[in-house]
Amino acid sequence: MMISVIGVGYLGAVHAAAMAEIGHDVIGLDVDAERVAVLQAGRAPFHEPGFEDILRRGLAAGRLRFTTDYADLAQADVHFLGLGTPQRKDGYGADLSHLEAATESLRDVLPAREGAPTLVVGKSTVPAGTARRLADRVEQVEGVQLLWNPEFLREGFAVKDTLEPDRLVYGVRDPETLPAVAAVRRLDAVYAPILARDTPRLVMGYETAELVKASANAFLATKISFINAIAEMCEAVGGDVTDVARAIGMDDRIGAKFLRAGVGFGGGCLPKDIRAFIASAEEHGVGESLGFLREVDTINERRRARTVELSGEMLGILRGRRITVLGAAFKPDSDDVRDSPALDVADRLLQAGAQVTVTDPQALANASQRVPGLVVEADLATALRGAELTLLLTEWREYRDLDPVWAAGLVAVPRMLDGRSVLEPRSWAEAGWELRALGRSAPTPGPAPTAAPAPPDTARTLPALI
Ligand code: UDX
Repeated sequence: MMISVIGVGYLGAVHAAAMAEIGHDVIGLDVDAERVAVLQAGRAPFHEPGFEDILRRGLAAGRLRFTTDYADLAQADVHFLGLGTPQRKDGYGADLSHLEAATESLRDVLPAREGAPTLVVGKSTVPAGTARRLADRVEQVEGVQLLWNPEFLREGFAVKDTLEPDRLVYGVRDPETLPAVAAVRRLDAVYAPILARDTPRLVMGYETAELVKASANAFLATKISFINAIAEMCEAVGGDVTDVARAIGMDDRIGAKFLRAGVGFGGGCLPKDIRAFIASAEEHGVGESLGFLREVDTINERRRARTVELSGEMLGILRGRRITVLGAAFKPDSDDVRDSPALDVADRLLQAGAQVTVTDPQALANASQRVPGLVVEADLATALRGAELTLLLTEWREYRDLDPVWAAGLVAVPRMLDGRSVLEPRSWAEAGWELRALGRSAPTPGPAPTAAPAPPDTARTLPALI
């Protein structure tokens, strides 16, 4: 089939290349000419394992190309909308302006057709009610039908999640009607190789499909903030959150995933999506129903503040101290720094007067762009050299596997704050490190740090120090 993907950001670019990979003729559109040129040249504009391979394969096979001109899309059978829906500048709600503008531009070039419907398929995360509104506009063109098909991909697994999703959700105007059946059949044809693997496919109304996506992200964010709240309790009473998570996760009803306590969630989706969900509930007069999501957001925010506070406790004073931050990306296997807890903490430490060096295997260019003046260092050994405190804030494999003896030989003082609770306390203590971890109460018993004693003002409280 001939397919267009409008908006080739993270979601759209991966979707376009994945649709070419399963045999369709795909044209990706973006208003950003530079991004289009980069993709057309076979280069990935972001770090995503496996993406460049399918991009290049699609281009080489002649099944994939990119454009900035809507007129080039007119002949496609199916048009996917992959536009971003960022948080509005003036509040919590989602900014739908890109999505709305793109839908209008598409509508202007869509030819009236008879026979099999031309599909417009929304993939962006949107507040309930958006699909129906867009459908009312675009379905004015004869033979056009809109479906809402939310995307659940995770960064770092985007190619796999697109080609082997857990489930496909189709939102339609009215699931019981004949036009809906025809539209569903047509979208089934697009996803035929995926459906052939017995992937569950669920058909429901527009608003329900929109709520599936918002609820999924809200649940994931809640699960993370839940375990981070328990981490706060662990710190207070002397418990270990990693043991709590392991033990409760063995109950199938709870499940072990998304119970990793630490510096909290970030990225381009969870933070803004829970806020958009709160705003949408308030608009519909049921703000109280999702009021708990404000608490989820607050707990998440508090973990970042606590990391800075604990750094102050460990150093005695932040101003002028040499701190190395391991990680800038919001999660491993990504170069995305949008609302990254790691980068936010690094920035707060910088604002508090510390001399901060940030290292990351992939995200340094994006980090420098976002936080001007940040000192970044790509080489791990160089970044560690001379540090009086090291923070592990993004759990890249190279940081999880860091040899504590080797690292101790580089830093000025073997003092580590493990913001993702991934380091094995005993081996770090044995190598002479003072190790503190979020959600793991007191300093780990073990040999005292070998290097310089803490400065004399250790007992002063943090606010006075920064
Ligand atoms: C998320 C959803 O998982 C995905 O389904 C949706 O389509 C887009 O948003 P993503 O933003 O790629 O995907 O990241 P995810 O893997 O969900 O992680 C989000 C944040 O939560 C990261 O900062 C991660 O470090 C943090 N996290 C995750 C935790 O702090 N603890 C956990 O246990 C899991």
